[in-house]
Amino acid sequence: MILPNQNLLSSLPLVWNNDIFVPKASIPTFFKILSPQNSVTELDHSLIHDMIGGRDKFFEIVDNFYEQVKTDDLLFPMYPEDLEMAKKKLAFFLMQKFGGPDEYRPLRGQPMMRKRHFEFPIGVDERNRWVAIMTKALDESGIDDSHPARYTLQKYIEMMATHMINRSEFDTKNH
Ligand code: HEM
Repeated sequence: MILPNQNLLSSLPLVWNNDIFVPKASIPTFFKILSPQNSVTELDHSLIHDMIGGRDKFFEIVDNFYEQVKTDDLLFPMYPEDLEMAKKKLAFFLMQKFGGPDEYRPLRGQPMMRKRHFEFPIGVDERNRWVAIMTKALDESGIDDSHPARYTLQKYIEMMATHMINRSEFDTKNH
C-alpha cells in the first residue's frame, strides 16, 4: 500500500470518511494509488459529487440511463413521452444525495421517493431491470468497477431500488 506523502496530506482539508480522516481534494488520486480493494469501500456520500466530476457527470449518467429506458419493454411504458423533465429530476436528486447543490427540493419539494413511485407498479422484475440499466449507464459514463466511487453509487442504487418495490409478483403480472 502506497500512501501519499505527508506534505501533500497536511496541505489539504481533511474530511471524515467512514472511520478515518482523508484529504478531500486528493481523494481520486489517493484511491488510484491504493490497492483495488478500495473500490469496495463505501465512501461518505458527500464526497461523490466532486469525486466523479460534478453536475456534468450526473447528467451524463442520466442521459445514458434514459437512452436505454427508451427501448426498454418493461420500463418505458411507465415513463412520460418527453423524458427531458424526468432526466432533470433524476440528475438533481442524485446530485443532492451525493454532495452536490440541492436543486431537487426547489424544483420538486421533499423527495418522498417511495411515495412518488406508488403510482408505478414496481415488482422484483422492474427493480432488477432498473438496476441493470443504471449499472450499464454507470459503466458507459466511465464509473466502472475500478472507479473508487462505483461501490458507493451502486450500493445506494440497489438499496433504493429495492425500497421502491411496491407490488408483489402477482400484482405486476396482473395489473
Ligand atoms: C425500481 C425501479 C424504478 C422504476 C420502475 C422507476 C420509475 C420511475 C418513473 C416512471 C418515474 C416518473 C418519471 C416522470 O414522470 O418524470 C420516476 C421518477 C423518479 N424516480 Fe424512479 N423508478 C425506479 C427506481 C428509482 C430509484 C432507485 C431512484 C433513485 C435512486 C429513482 C429516482 C426517481 C426520481 C428522483 C424521480 C423523479 C421524482 C419527482 O420529482 O417527480 N427511481 N421513477
